[in-house]
Amino acid sequence: MNVKKVTIIGAGTMGNGIAHVFASSGFSVNLVDVKQPLLDRALSTIEKNLQRQVKKEKITAADAQATLAKIETNVDISTARDSELVIEAATENAEIKKQLFKSLDELCPAESLLASNTSSISITEIAAVTARPEQVIGMHFFNPVPVMALVEVIRGLATSDETFETVMRLSEQLGKTPVAVNDYPGFVSNRVLMPMINEAIFCVMEGVAEPEAIDTVMKLGMAHPMGPLALADFIGLDVCLHIMTVMMNNLGDDKYRPCPLLRKMVAAGHLGRKTNKGFYDYSLAN
Ligand code: 3HC
Repeated sequence: MNVKKVTIIGAGTMGNGIAHVFASSGFSVNLVDVKQPLLDRALSTIEKNLQRQVKKEKITAADAQATLAKIETNVDISTARDSELVIEAATENAEIKKQLFKSLDELCPAESLLASNTSSISITEIAAVTARPEQVIGMHFFNPVPVMALVEVIRGLATSDETFETVMRLSEQLGKTPVAVNDYPGFVSNRVLMPMINEAIFCVMEGVAEPEAIDTVMKLGMAHPMGPLALADFIGLDVCLHIMTVMMNNLGDDKYRPCPLLRKMVAAGHLGRKTNKGFYDYSLAN
């Protein structure tokens, strides 16, 4: 399969980052979301991140312009029909994703590949709603997408070798390092990361140390670029809670029990950076 055009469904943080890296690698990108203002906001984020790369002399101003010129935006999902690859980066809700994959399966030519950027929902389950489960795969990017080198490539039970090899090759064309993973809850990245974040939240709840102290231990003691609580704020506490819940329910082991303080913060609407309040206060930073 020769991929030239990619449709990305969902223009949020992950969707706009994925659009950015595909466009800067020369692919034509169709970015789709339900409302034009969401697409306008995504384009301005991509522009800002490209300017950041120009300023750091990673790319030229002409490269930034060429990247932007590769991106079209649409509110109509049927525009996905001329893409060889569709990557879904919509909200983390299994029913919404299944509905989207059903529609995409009906719309897209038989040879198109359908990928999901899901952080924890089963690829096998999503693939099962389509008539092409062998062409459905997980392509899990990391935030900030233009910076993080990893793509976790997740094979569903029915994913074919051909689909897998195409996506591994494509990830390399983006300048990323793809890592093959099988479809189990949380894959590898979140299965290992989220229990660490959850345990850090237990440390706050039990008064083991203040958030700053916990983050400093992990940054200076383990060379993590961000402490687990700052990272939880960056990812979104609602996303962390969702992933822990998926792992607890689907692996059936209460070692994945979400920390009660995490539940309480999400219930209070303290979701991290996106609400200006999580383990840290961001109201002055924005
Ligand atoms: N677009 C383009 N470039 C960006 C960027 C963006 N959105 N954000 C940061 N950058 C660039 C900066 O320009 C800078 O470039 P340079 O190295 O050439 O100077 C570089 O990235 C570092 O940025 P900053 O100097 O602004 O800040 P930091 O040095 O503090 O790094 C960070 C910021 C890259 C976010 C770093 O703290 C980090 O790596 N944190 C961990 C991030 C992480 O773990 N992400 C994964 C989350 S889990 C996930 O996404 C999966 C999901 O399923 C939950």
